[in-house]
Amino acid sequence: MSLSIRPAHPVFAGEVSAIDISQKLDQEQVAAIEAGMDRYAVLVFRDQQLTDDQQLEFSRNFGELEVTLAGQMAKPEDRRLGDRLELGDISNLTARNELRAREDRSRMYALANRLWHSDASFRAIGAGYTLLHGRVIPRKGGNTEFADMRAAYDALDASMKAEVESLVCEHSIVFSREQIGFSDYAPGNEERLRPVQHRLVITHPVSGRKSLYLSSHIGGIVDWPVPEARAFIRDLMEHATQRQFVYAHEWRVNDLVMWDNRTVMHRARPFNDLKEVRDLRRTSIKGTGLMVEAVPAQAA
Ligand code: OGA
Ligand code: MN
Repeated sequence: MSLSIRPAHPVFAGEVSAIDISQKLDQEQVAAIEAGMDRYAVLVFRDQQLTDDQQLEFSRNFGELEVTLAGQMAKPEDRRLGDRLELGDISNLTARNELRAREDRSRMYALANRLWHSDASFRAIGAGYTLLHGRVIPRKGGNTEFADMRAAYDALDASMKAEVESLVCEHSIVFSREQIGFSDYAPGNEERLRPVQHRLVITHPVSGRKSLYLSSHIGGIVDWPVPEARAFIRDLMEHATQRQFVYAHEWRVNDLVMWDNRTVMHRARPFNDLKEVRDLRRTSIKGTGLMVEAVPAQAA
């Protein structure tokens, strides 16, 4: 039986049924999931019991895996999931499986996930798909929200569409962390913190739809004064995250949620993380194909 997808929201996001992603997929299934991603941008697979290896295997169907910046910057003894950096630890647990304390540095760093963002937009090539698998879910809170950046683009008026068309934004992890007052980086990470440039408007090669490549990692617009750029991006963020563009995912154990960072933003919602466990595993695919081509060099 081939998989089917039913809409989970009026404008995007779909729930996939009739597939067991712990098993090896055939080409037809991979193509159907990719087509579903092109259309829905977020896909939810319920009741998928997966080991770490099975999640890695499933993810590799869609391209080369990325290593998270948090993983790269963590000391080896602080890595709860061992040395496989392709497997991101999205939990509130320490390497000893204890709840992170209020002042824990990794907790502070991860709190910026509550700002709307696109994964790895601070890299020269941002993430394509991200996949999150739910292992332990708190009783209350801890949703992940998604906002459709194609629908947000479509809803701009003609003069805004013309204004954003050629803008190039500067992205760095420093800009998102700065918004919550975090700046505690270990020495030796200077190169990873340096801003990169991406176009604000990108076009999907399959659907031809344009979308806004927005992210809390943005801290400037090329050739604009910083305060003007930040005020402009803030307004655009507000526009792009209106309720009608947002799907809120309420986690259940063994959900796998997969999204395209080139067409949606996402954010984590709070929960009682000093008392309850939330344990998700993350894999990300390097972005290829869609936009995020390097910005052309400026004419001399
Ligand atoms: C992420 C992320 C959101 C969440 O893993 O990239 O932003 O709800 N997670 O944990
Ligand atoms: Mn994220």
